[in-house]
Amino acid sequence: MHGFRTIIEPFRIKSVEPLRITTPGERREKLAAAGYNLFGVHSDDVMVDLLTDSGTGAMSSEQWAAIQRGDESYAGSPSFYRFEAAVKGLFDFKHVIPTHQGRAAEKILFSVVGGKGKVVLNNTHFDTTRANVEFTGATAVDLVIPEGKQPSVIHPFKGNMDLGALERAISEHGRANIPLVMMTITNNSGGGQPVSLANMRAVRAICDQHDLPFFLDGCRFAENAWFIREREPGQQHRTVKEIVQELGSLADGMTMSAKKDGLANIGGWLAVDDDALALKCRNLLILTEGFPTYGGLAGRDLEAIAQGLEEVVKHEYLEYRIRSTQYVGEGLLRLGVPIVQPTGGHAVYIDARAMLPHIPPLQYPGQALATALYEEGGVRGCEIGTVMFGLKPDGTEAPAAMDLVRLAIPRRTYTQSHMDYVLEVMERVVKRAPTLKGYRIVEQPPALRHFSARFSPLA
Ligand code: F0G
Repeated sequence: MHGFRTIIEPFRIKSVEPLRITTPGERREKLAAAGYNLFGVHSDDVMVDLLTDSGTGAMSSEQWAAIQRGDESYAGSPSFYRFEAAVKGLFDFKHVIPTHQGRAAEKILFSVVGGKGKVVLNNTHFDTTRANVEFTGATAVDLVIPEGKQPSVIHPFKGNMDLGALERAISEHGRANIPLVMMTITNNSGGGQPVSLANMRAVRAICDQHDLPFFLDGCRFAENAWFIREREPGQQHRTVKEIVQELGSLADGMTMSAKKDGLANIGGWLAVDDDALALKCRNLLILTEGFPTYGGLAGRDLEAIAQGLEEVVKHEYLEYRIRSTQYVGEGLLRLGVPIVQPTGGHAVYIDARAMLPHIPPLQYPGQALATALYEEGGVRGCEIGTVMFGLKPDGTEAPAAMDLVRLAIPRRTYTQSHMDYVLEVMERVVKRAPTLKGYRIVEQPPALRHFSARFSPLA
């Protein structure tokens, strides 16, 4: 943007949080004590924490200043009206309903529109979205384009909805059984891949033909809009804010986790145009989250989100954000590590099954890679594979479609030298790769086992 090859972090550091430097021996002990499950490792025993980009970002000095302005009135707080104005400045929906995080918005929305026999169509449901749809007895169907499921295939918008599959799903299930069509931007479960404006417009047109509501899961809307500006013909002259406003104008409502592109540590919202739907949602909100002008958040959280929404659409921020994720992807490719390509917005996804072909899926190659990164250098990523998805409701086990390890990058938190360190750790793991061993699960709950399962390394 400014003509230099180095895209510097567009901020300097005002307050620092010390990292504890640990030794491999210490990390081996911590790993064993946690049953080789990285969710069980204490975060102060982690050196570079890439478990998630959710709620883990650094706030700006303006956000901390806004926090001081937080008004904690139960009803009608000015902090709510600032939050509402900031959301509407990007997404002009009639009703903006704050929630404590994204899944609370999903829970409320699908409690109202879901139910047995209903079918929700999405490019790819995020886990919590799928779980909230299924919890009501409804079915969640993923309709991403075929390229979106092939890690090494390059495509500028791998998050796009397969339009033919969408038409077929609508005629197969029938309009009456489909409460809404949803688009997840960016497609997190598919590798943080963006959706094009053309695809959004086409889905809107199909929804119009069938009189179907169209919703966004907008968690990473700003990153998606940046990709549109960079990659989609005819979009280069527009601001990200204008593109975001168009994305919003194509939808009838949205769910949002402000822990991602709200640049906040907690929060979310549900927004809808429909008055009757909003009334039902607000009634549930009062039951589970709180009064409609705070929805489970403190006034100060609403202020942090309002300010975050101003900052997240800034081009200097987004250029740095997307470039710094690509930097990690490029470094991994140079080491010969197979990753989902092109690099997504918020994370790099490593194809552990391809990297560790000697470990069969039911011995969890993703788990083997994730624990090796921790042991080698205190880097914590997240297995997204057979551990996460392999256990079926009937108790049987099958390999997941892919065995990935996600390195999710918290916003504005780590510097380029942290990422150089992560790459150096990976370089050592690559050398050891043929000697890495798989795991066996020794203890697991009946569902969502990845959070609490205990493992034993195979000899
Ligand atoms: N939708 C998407 C696309 C998400 O990535 C997430 C969270 C949610 C909804 C739920 O939001 O956590 O505020 O309740 N993703 C986090 C992650 C947890 O690590 O990818 P939430």
